Amino acid sequence: MAKSIDVDNLNVYYGDFLAVEGASINIAPRTVTAFIGPSGCGKSTFLRTLNRMHEVIPGGRVEGKVLLDGEDLYGPGVDPVNVRRTVGMVFQKANPFPTMSIYDNVIAGYKIAGSRKNKREFDDIVERSLKGANLWEEVKSRLQRPGAGLSGGQQQRLCIARAIAVEPSVLLMDEPCSALDPISTLAIEDLISELKVNYTIVIVTHNMQQAARVSDRTAFFNLAGVGQPGRMIEYDETAKIFSNPTQKATEDYISGRFG
Ligand SMILES: Nc1ncnc2c1ncn2[C@@H]1O[C@H](COP(=O)(O)OP(=O)(O)O)[C@@H](O)[C@H]1O
Ligand SMILES: [Mg+2]
Repeated sequence: MAKSIDVDNLNVYYGDFLAVEGASINIAPRTVTAFIGPSGCGKSTFLRTLNRMHEVIPGGRVEGKVLLDGEDLYGPGVDPVNVRRTVGMVFQKANPFPTMSIYDNVIAGYKIAGSRKNKREFDDIVERSLKGANLWEEVKSRLQRPGAGLSGGQQQRLCIARAIAVEPSVLLMDEPCSALDPISTLAIEDLISELKVNYTIVIVTHNMQQAARVSDRTAFFNLAGVGQPGRMIEYDETAKIFSNPTQKATEDYISGRFG
C-alpha cells in the first residue's frame, strides 16, 4: 500500500518565477521524511508537486517527473484527482468542514467523489479511520456533532482521519503541528510514528526537534537570496543531518546561525 517516491531534477514554477530548482529525492515506502529550511525556500511548493496540488495555483507548473512506485504522476493520461486520492495531504491549519459532523468529515472524500457505499460500509470506514488517527475513543459517542466543536489537536487528527479514510499510499503534511500546543503536538508525532507502518510520510516542519524525533531522513532546503530559486541542499539520514551534515549551510541552519 505504501509507495516509493522518486523525483529527478524537478523545476517548479509560478508563472515565470522559478521557485524550486533541480530538486531530486528518493523516498522509500514506510519511512518518514522531513523537509526543513528557512521560510520561503520552497518546502511547501515542492511538497505540493508530490500530489499535483501545485498546478491548482494559476501559473503553477513543473518541469520533470515525479515517480510514484515508478509511475510518473505527470505522465499523459494521469488523472490529477486520482493522484490526490493516492497521495493525501494534511495542512498547517486544521481544516475540517466546520458545520459538517465528525462522521461526515471522515467520509467527505467519498461523498465528494459520489461514492455509493451503504451505511454499514461508511460506519466501518469512519471507525477504522478514527482509530487510525488515534481519535476514536475521544469522539465515538459524538460522531454526529460538528467537527468544529473539537479542540485544535483533535481537529488536526480529524483531518488525518479524513486523509487516511480513502486509503492513500502517501501522506504529505505541511507543518501539521505549528498551530498546536505541545501535548497535541506529541500526540500527532506519536501518530506519525504509528502511521509510517502503512504509509510513506513526508512532513514539512520548522521545528527541528520534531524533524529529529519523527523522521528517518531529512532534506534541507535553502535559498541563495531574494528572488533566487530554492534548492535542496542536502538529503540524508536524519541522524547524519543533525550530527554531521556535509554542507556548511545545513550546519549553520541546524545550529541556529541562520534562518
Ligand atoms: N501562490 C504563489 N504564487 C506565487 N509565488 C508563490 C506562491 N506560493 C509561494 N510562492 C513563492 O514561492 C517561494 C517558495 O514559497 P514556499 O514554498 O511557500 O516556501 P516555504 O514553504 O519553504 O516557506 C517563495 O518565494 C514564495 O513567495
Ligand atoms: Mg511552507
